[in-house]
Amino acid sequence: MRGLNRNVVYFILPLGLAQGQESYDYIIAGGGTSGLVVANRLSADPSIRVLVIEAGRDERTNPNVTSVSGFLSAFNTSIDWAYNVVPQQSLYGRDMQYHSGRALGGTSTINGMTFLRGDAPEVDAWEVLGNPGWNWDALWPHYTGVENFTVPTAAQIAAGVSWTPEFHGEQGELTTGCPYSLLNGSFHEAWGATWANWGLPHNEDMNGGDIRGYSVWPSTLDRDANVREDAARAFLHPVEARPNLKVIQGTVRRVLWKKGASGCEAIEAEGVEYLSASGETLTLSANKEVILSAGSLRSPLILELSGVGHPSYLKKLGIETKVDLPGVGENMIEQPLGAIGYSANLTLPAGAATPFGAFINAQDMFGDETASLAASTKASLADWAAQISAANGGVVGAAALEKVFAVQHDLIFGKNVTIGEILTYPSEGAIGNVGWPLLPFSRGSVHLKSTEAIDDPVIDPKYLLADFDVKMMTGLGRVARSFFGQKPMSDIVIEFISPGDAILPPDASDAQWEAALRASAGPNHHALGTAAMMSRELGGVVDPKLKVYGTSNVRVVDASVIPLQISGHLTATLYALADRASGIILGTV
Ligand SMILES: Cc1cc2nc3c(=O)[nH]c(=O)nc-3n(C[C@H](O)[C@H](O)[C@H](O)COP(=O)(O)OP(=O)(O)OC[C@H]3O[C@@H](n4cnc5c(N)ncnc54)[C@H](O)[C@@H]3O)c2cc1C
Ligand SMILES: *[C@@H]1O[C@H](CO)[C@@H](O)[C@H](O)[C@H]1NC(C)=O
Ligand SMILES: *[C@@H]1O[C@H](CO)[C@@H](O)[C@H](O)[C@H]1NC(C)=O
Ligand SMILES: *[C@@H]1O[C@H](CO)[C@@H](O)[C@H](O)[C@H]1NC(C)=O
Ligand SMILES: *[C@@H]1O[C@H](CO)[C@@H](O)[C@H](O)[C@H]1NC(C)=O
Ligand SMILES: *[C@@H]1O[C@H](CO)[C@@H](O)[C@H](O)[C@H]1NC(C)=O
Ligand SMILES: *[C@@H]1O[C@H](CO)[C@@H](O)[C@H](O)[C@H]1NC(C)=O
Repeated sequence: MRGLNRNVVYFILPLGLAQGQESYDYIIAGGGTSGLVVANRLSADPSIRVLVIEAGRDERTNPNVTSVSGFLSAFNTSIDWAYNVVPQQSLYGRDMQYHSGRALGGTSTINGMTFLRGDAPEVDAWEVLGNPGWNWDALWPHYTGVENFTVPTAAQIAAGVSWTPEFHGEQGELTTGCPYSLLNGSFHEAWGATWANWGLPHNEDMNGGDIRGYSVWPSTLDRDANVREDAARAFLHPVEARPNLKVIQGTVRRVLWKKGASGCEAIEAEGVEYLSASGETLTLSANKEVILSAGSLRSPLILELSGVGHPSYLKKLGIETKVDLPGVGENMIEQPLGAIGYSANLTLPAGAATPFGAFINAQDMFGDETASLAASTKASLADWAAQISAANGGVVGAAALEKVFAVQHDLIFGKNVTIGEILTYPSEGAIGNVGWPLLPFSRGSVHLKSTEAIDDPVIDPKYLLADFDVKMMTGLGRVARSFFGQKPMSDIVIEFISPGDAILPPDASDAQWEAALRASAGPNHHALGTAAMMSRELGGVVDPKLKVYGTSNVRVVDASVIPLQISGHLTATLYALADRASGIILGTV
C-alpha cells in the first residue's frame, strides 16, 4: 500500500466503507500535544488511514488560545478540564484544581508556552532505566527537527534574548521564538546582574541539554503572526486537507479487543468504543493499532476501562482484567509549585512578556552541605522507597522504587542536573516568583473513578510526601529569598509581602519553611509517568517501543510514558518524543 499517490487512495478509500463503516489503520485517542504529532507523521503516507478522536473542539479562533499573553484566561473555561485533585494529606488536606487542555491541540492550547527541553542526563536516564535507544543524542534530531526557530530581532537581543544557533531547528513545523511584547526596559539587566552577583552563570541558550543558569527563553509562539503556537496550529492545520487523515469529536471510553487471545498471549485491539459529541456510544475499528495520547491523566483511565491494570482495582470497578498490569496509573511524578512575592519600586508597561528564569543544581541549592547530603540521602533511598511504596498501597514495590530512586539520586548528586527552577514575574509595583523542585521523590497516582465517570479521574499526586522534596523546596525558597537580598534587586524590592515575614522571617527555620510550603504548594501541571516506559518489574506499562505490555497493537504516546521528571517544561520533550515514536510505529526508527 505504501507509496500510492493521493488519486489512487481516493479510489481505494471507498472500498473500506464496504461494510457501511469507515475503517482506519490507526486510531489515535486524544488530539493533544503528542497525539497531533503522531497524526501528522503517520498520515504523511497517503496509504495510511489515520483517525484522531478528540474530546475537545477546534479552537483555532478562540482568543484565549491564540493570544500570546492569554495564559491563565483559559482556566475554568470550556477548554479546560479543570480536574479536581483529591485532598492532599501532605498539604494539610487541601484540595485543588488541575488544569488540562480540552481542545484540538490539548494542553498546548492553554499552557505557559515555555519552550525548554531539559538536562541531557535526564533523557539519558530513560535508557539507564532499561529503554535502549532512548537517550538525549537519539532524541536530539527530533528536538531540533520539529522546530522552526524565529531568529530574534536586534530589539529582542537588546531586551536580553540570546541563543545558540546549533541548538535550534528551522525546518520543522513548530514555530518558536520570543514575542514582540518582550519586556524591553532595564529590568532584565537588574535581574541578570543579581543572579550573577548571587553566583549563577548566565546561560546563553538553555535548550542544548545543559539548563543550569539564568536566561531569557523562547516560547512556543509565532512572533510575526502574534499567536500562540499550539500543537493543532503546528501539526494539524497544515495537513488537515489530507484525505487519509480524519478528526472527529468524541471521548474514547475503551479499547475493544479481538476474541481469541488468552493466557500469556498478547491481546490484540480491534478498535475503540467512544462517546460521540452527541452522547451516543459508538465503535470504530483500527486495522493496525490504537494509540493512546489522551495525556498522563487520561490514557491510564482508558487502559483501566479496557481491562488493563491492577486486577483488584479493576475488580472493584466491575471490570474484567485482560492484562494484569499494576503500574497503570501509578508512578505519577508531579512537581509542587510554590510562590513568593515582593512589593517593588517598579514601573512596567502592561502586558509585557517576561520569560525570565533560573535553574539551579544541588550544589547551588545546598552549598557546602552537598557532599554530606549526597551520602546521607543515598543511604536513605531504601527507606524512602519503602515509605513511598507503602503510601501507594504497595502497588509498585519498594525494591522497584529503590532502583528508580538510585537512578534519580545519581542524576541529582552524580550528574549534577538542575533540581530547582525559579521564574521571576515583574509587574507594576510588585515582583512575583514561582518555583518548583524539578525531581521530586514523591510518587502519586491517577485512576478511573467508575466505569461511567470517565471525565473525572481520581488524581492524587501526593505532593511533598517525601521529606526530601520538602528539603529541596525549602532550599529553593531560600535561594529565591537570597536572590532578592542581593544587589541590585535588593534596591528594587520594598517589602516581602507574600507570604510575609510573619510566616517566613528572613532566617526562617526548616520547620517554618515546611509549614509554609505545606500550607501553600499547588500543582505545577507537569504530571507524567502514569504509563511509564520501564520494565514490568519496575512498575512500567509500556516497552521501549511504547507498546503496552500484554498487548500486540496498543501504544501510549504522551506524557504518561516519561519515566522520570525532566527539568524542561514538558512540551519541548513531548514533541520530540512523539516524533520519534511515530518513526518507531512506522518502522523507520
Ligand atoms: C497550566 C499549565 C501550564 C503549563 N505550562 C507549560 C509551559 O509553559 N511549557 C510547557 O512545555 N509545558 C507546560 N505545561 C505542560 C504541558 O503543556 C503538558 O504536559 C503537555 O501539553 C501534555 O501533553 P500530552 O500530549 O501528554 O497531553 P495533552 O496535550 O493534554 O493532550 C491530551 C488530549 O486528549 C484529550 N482527551 C482526554 N481524554 C480523552 C478521551 N478519553 N478521548 C478523547 N480525547 C481525550 C484532551 O482533551 C487533550 O486534547 C503546562 C500545563 C498546564 C496545565
Ligand atoms: C476567554 O476567557 C475569558 C476569561 O476567562 C472568558 O470569560 C471567556 O468566556 C473565554 N472565551 C471563550 C471563547 O471561551
Ligand atoms: C475555577 O473554579 C473553581 C471552583 O469552581 C474555583 O475554586 C477556582 O478558583 C477557579 N479558578 C480560576 C483560575 O478561576
Ligand atoms: C519557518 O518560519 C519562517 C518564518 O519565520 C517561514 O518563512 C518558513 O517557511 C518556516 N519554515 C517551515 C519549514 O515551515
Ligand atoms: C519596547 O516595547 C514596546 C512595547 O512592546 C514597543 O512599543 C517598543 O517599540 C519597544 N522598544 C524598543 C526600543 O524596542
Ligand atoms: C523608586 O526609584 C526611583 C528611581 O528609579 C527613586 O527615585 C525613588 O526614590 C524610588 N522610590 C522608593 C520608594 O524607593
Ligand atoms: C558535580 O558537582 C560536584 C560538586 O558538587 C563535583 O565534584 C562533580 O565533579 C560534579 N560532577 C559532574 C559530572 O559534573
